[in-house]
Amino acid sequence: MRRKLVAGNWKMHGSHTTNAELLSGIIGSGPYGCDVAVCVPFPYLSETAVTLARSQIRWGAQDCSKHEQGAYTGEVSVGMLVEFGCRYVIVGHSERRQFHAEGDQLVADKAKAALSRGVTPIVCVGETLAQREAGETESVVKRQLSAVIHTLGHCAGEMVVAYEPVWAIGTGRTATPEQAQAVHALLRAQLRAATPQADAMKILYGGSVKPDNASTLFGQADIDGGLIGGASLKASDFVAICRAAG
Ligand code: PGA
Repeated sequence: MRRKLVAGNWKMHGSHTTNAELLSGIIGSGPYGCDVAVCVPFPYLSETAVTLARSQIRWGAQDCSKHEQGAYTGEVSVGMLVEFGCRYVIVGHSERRQFHAEGDQLVADKAKAALSRGVTPIVCVGETLAQREAGETESVVKRQLSAVIHTLGHCAGEMVVAYEPVWAIGTGRTATPEQAQAVHALLRAQLRAATPQADAMKILYGGSVKPDNASTLFGQADIDGGLIGGASLKASDFVAICRAAG
């Protein structure tokens, strides 16, 4: 049985005051029967690390540079994330792909940079509504994952994959458990062809996961938890989703 992971993706939300309230709500409702993490904006990593230090909750970032250091204004290296105790970093989120023109190879390079410093990349893949309607879901997610598998080589088994259909992110429109499971099964098959660790790997679902739909989604054979956006900003919702995972 794979242990589930529920990771909050705070996106560009938060403040000193609301973060403290949210984190104490999450800590106070533990322990959890699944792995729990929050991926916070860079400026809040420090306070998050201090607040969560003695808890079972892990933390991470939402992006990283593929470079170790250098003249890359505005970028943050994985080495810096390590200094703040990050366990995870999200790479290839559809909002990065869409608003920052990140392509498959850049996403793969970021995942490799993360693993090279012992930080687990949560690699996001997912199709747009137009791609789904054109019957391209399978080819899109396979192409996105294949770039990462190829670049990580024998380390591919160490990443976490997140399937996030773009049309379900922040829209309130969730993939049905069957739709999500079908794509997760495809991704698992692709991973099996690439690494002997495939059956131990976590494939998260993301896209409008809420307390009322989390348990059916997490009940699917190949869904190993969730990457949670909007509902990760309210302690009671996030806690309920963590409880649905175990
Ligand atoms: P959502 O976002 O839960 O608000 O749909 C998920 C994500 O973008 O990771």
